Amino acid sequence: MKKIEEYVRSIPDFPEEGIIFRDVTSVLQDADGLALAIDLMQEKLKGVEFDLVVGPESRGFIFGVPIAYNLHKPFIPIRKKGKLPCETVSIQYELEYGTAELEIHRDAIKEGQRVVIIDDLIATGGTNEAMVKLIEGLGGKVVKTVFLMELSGLKGRDKLKGYDVESVIAYP
Ligand code: PRP
Ligand code: ADE
Repeated sequence: MKKIEEYVRSIPDFPEEGIIFRDVTSVLQDADGLALAIDLMQEKLKGVEFDLVVGPESRGFIFGVPIAYNLHKPFIPIRKKGKLPCETVSIQYELEYGTAELEIHRDAIKEGQRVVIIDDLIATGGTNEAMVKLIEGLGGKVVKTVFLMELSGLKGRDKLKGYDVESVIAYP
């Protein structure tokens, strides 16, 4: 059986010079790779009590929804600006390349709900930090964040001190 690392294709200088892009599509396009990725991420939630899965557009949806489905939990999408139809709260944040703005429906999380965040990758941690702020702003409690991949050198964890953060694959 192949290891999960072997399914990830790395592309130098994409989308900008100096970035090594860790391509999740090469995991997804193999049925075994896809199943292994979801299983390994889901394993990190064993024993965790929570009410909701939250995932960011777009790669967070890929893993967040099947994990929520498997564990019979709701899935709350955090979307890029201007996509959600009802009342939202939003936040601006910085990426490894560029800036962006994320939104969540104001009624998606109730005071005291226990939230798990799922995403494909943590780089600078800016996306996750922004999501934590949105969730906590609505009264949710982030009990765990699970990533498939972590770019350790970018020190995204430094932005998430005090939170339970786990990844399946860590790149230096
Ligand atoms: C990517 C990735 C993470 C985020 C990580 O999403 O899926 O959500 O960047 O970077 P950070 O830790 O520096 O914030 P991106 O915003 O590129 O959007 P996409 O999922 O639509 O490709
Ligand atoms: N998102 C942010 N940085 C990334 C990287 N180096 N590879 C894949 N996705 C990313």
